[in-house]
Amino acid sequence: MTESVKLIYGDKEYQLPVIMGSEKEKAIDISKLRQKTGLITLDAGFANTGSCTSSITFMDGEKGILRYRGIPVEQLAEKSTFAETAYLLIHGRLPRRKDLTDFSVLLNDNSLVHEDMRAFYESYPRSSHPMGILSSMVNALRSFYPELHNLQEEINMTVTRLLSKVRTLAAMSYKISRGHKVVYPRPDLTYCANFLNMMFATPVRPYEIDPDVVKALNVFWILHADHEQNCSTSAVRVVGSARVNLYAAISAGIAALWGPLHGGANQAVVEMLTEIVENKNMKQMIERAKDKNDSFRLMGFGHRVYKTYDPRMKIMKKMCDTLLEKLNITDPLLDAAIELEQIALNDDYFIEHNLYPNVDFYSGIVLRTIGIPTNMFTVMFAIGRLPGWIAQWKESIDDPNWKLSRPRQIYTGPKENRYVPIEER
Ligand code: ACO
Repeated sequence: MTESVKLIYGDKEYQLPVIMGSEKEKAIDISKLRQKTGLITLDAGFANTGSCTSSITFMDGEKGILRYRGIPVEQLAEKSTFAETAYLLIHGRLPRRKDLTDFSVLLNDNSLVHEDMRAFYESYPRSSHPMGILSSMVNALRSFYPELHNLQEEINMTVTRLLSKVRTLAAMSYKISRGHKVVYPRPDLTYCANFLNMMFATPVRPYEIDPDVVKALNVFWILHADHEQNCSTSAVRVVGSARVNLYAAISAGIAALWGPLHGGANQAVVEMLTEIVENKNMKQMIERAKDKNDSFRLMGFGHRVYKTYDPRMKIMKKMCDTLLEKLNITDPLLDAAIELEQIALNDDYFIEHNLYPNVDFYSGIVLRTIGIPTNMFTVMFAIGRLPGWIAQWKESIDDPNWKLSRPRQIYTGPKENRYVPIEER
């Protein structure tokens, strides 16, 4: 029997249907609420609001579960590659061998970016943040790759171009910011190895591709590949709901991800740990994070959905340990992170607020080890999140219940007022 919720308002009773997902999550369907009752709902930060039904990613914040298309992220991190996981998210199933080969060939064939785009980089001030540049570059892709007439072909080509060219754009931006020669993608390299080569090869020193580093990058990107209706994904869906092109929707997602409360946290964590190591002020940082009158927060801690360990963080920490050991590197930031985690986890404030380390807590240390500069950490997150944004956008445009995103509000300003001519004010 279908469940419903009874709403009593005034002297009337309303039945609101309850929708149930495949993992038994339940939602009250309020789509007819205003029409029937004249009421709307208010939910700051959408903490209790589902914006869609989705078959892409499942997460359980109480149990610390994350699955893409039903497959636990732990299994994907151990056995899959980023390209394969991207295929899974976008096409809804694991690729057969031929599918994966065709997909890789397509990504390789579309990995170059228009040479004229290089000129844009030269015009940005050297101090520009790479996330701002990436967001505008992705938007600019539409001008360089105009819309194709066949809709299906247009979608397939845009998806392929984004997955392949954003990686090239990111590496290109790094090279140009350093005044170095741009390295072009190589068709003989896998997705992750290609990116590393474009970042770190120079005309005087070829980049030695280390399989451990390639594996670490695959895992890093798999862990970031999707996370259901987070801030940037919601931005992609909301902007996409106006039926803008996919480049513009992804550009909006990149802008949202930039924020320090979202993807920008990976950069903020490393900056915080660096300050702790340099100024030996861990205790003061923790006290500041607990102080209600101080806006400072312990970066890399807390999550809107996870009220236990973020499962991605556990994998990231393990990978961080393995990578540093294999490369024989010691990083004082890792020691500081481990100590900070232990102190916070035993502190009443963090226990009572259910604050655990999130994916960003150790990810910056992995990226540092690979050689990625701090201001590019969030760009790395953005490349990883692309398959998720694309899959969510595709799902939203194919949804038969699709609607333009347009929330309502409760107005609290002045009542109707007379315009006062300037000489009477
Ligand atoms: N340090 C100290 N206190 C915190 C922290 C933190 N990192 N995070 C939450 N709190 C406290 C808040 O002060 C608040 O306390 P109060 O109830 O006593 O007023 C309580 O916990 C609830 O916090 P909210 O901000 O309401 O929780 P919300 O779900 O909105 O926040 C968020 C989630 C934004 C991630 C928050 O935990 C935070 O700012 N963390 C630091 C930034 C960060 O690491 N972001 C990355 C998140 S993962 C990602 O996006 C990839």
